[in-house]
Amino acid sequence: MADFSQNHLLGIRGLTKADVELIFETAKGFKDIINRPIRKVPSLRDLTVANLFFENSTRTRLSFELAEKRLSADVVNFSAASSSVKKGETLADTVRNILAMKVDLVVMRHPHPGAAHYLATKIGVPIINAGDGTHEHPTQALLDCFTLTERLGSLTGKKVCIFGDIRHSRVALSNVRCLALLGAEVMVCGPATLIPKHFASLGVRVEHDMDRALEWCDVANVLRIQLERQGAEVPFFPSLEEYHERFGLTTERLNRLSNPPIILHPGPMNRGVEISSEVADRKDSVILEQVENGVAVRMAVLYLLAGRLGGSED
Ligand code: CP
Repeated sequence: MADFSQNHLLGIRGLTKADVELIFETAKGFKDIINRPIRKVPSLRDLTVANLFFENSTRTRLSFELAEKRLSADVVNFSAASSSVKKGETLADTVRNILAMKVDLVVMRHPHPGAAHYLATKIGVPIINAGDGTHEHPTQALLDCFTLTERLGSLTGKKVCIFGDIRHSRVALSNVRCLALLGAEVMVCGPATLIPKHFASLGVRVEHDMDRALEWCDVANVLRIQLERQGAEVPFFPSLEEYHERFGLTTERLNRLSNPPIILHPGPMNRGVEISSEVADRKDSVILEQVENGVAVRMAVLYLLAGRLGGSED
């Protein structure tokens, strides 16, 4: 198998299909390891990883921290809310100060699209983008696709529909790119106001009728309505109740289908808005499998980037 081609993971753009397959193969091995009684390996021993979170996170932050600890890295965590960013320090200065403490890899979530790319031009250590504004969230797309390959085998020709707030989502763009690399057919479905026009030019189908989209797809990836990013004076849809009526994934809708799709949600969920509680908690939902796989996939990414450093490998 070819070596990993990247020095950073800034987005799915830039990855080759071989890179994604290598991440999945490596993640499979790590998934076995983290399900054993002794869940730690020494692969990143003597390396220090800084998790820089300039925006809130539960899953991604904990998942990276666990992944790093399972690989025996030393870990430092930074949260903008309690830092000197509040005193006006720039991103580059904050990171340079952290690197002066001899950090080997940086994981960063930031509200500004392109922040990870900017940082990669300023500092000489690998950067993993843990979500940059409404742009990309590459490890989420990788763990989503890894979860689907476990369920479906090859994704070639599989029909995946991404539902909901495409406009404000970083998960949507990363998923479209990753699914396209793996040969899936992709559709996006939501109100016209929440689907940017450029999505059609990415080679994806666009649908505004949820029931038609559900008939079409093998997989439904339901995205959160990002109310905190919808600062517009004119709302993107009339009310949460109406949104749920037209675009909420409910048992009633699923019961009308002869072949219900596999259901994914990256979290956090707005229960009763884009997904009903009953659907979220279905036994066949893979939502918590996504979270479990997130640790293995992030271990794989960290391991492959550390390998490019010439750091310790077992
Ligand atoms: N899926 C995801 O990115 O969740 P968090 O915002 O909790 O990290």
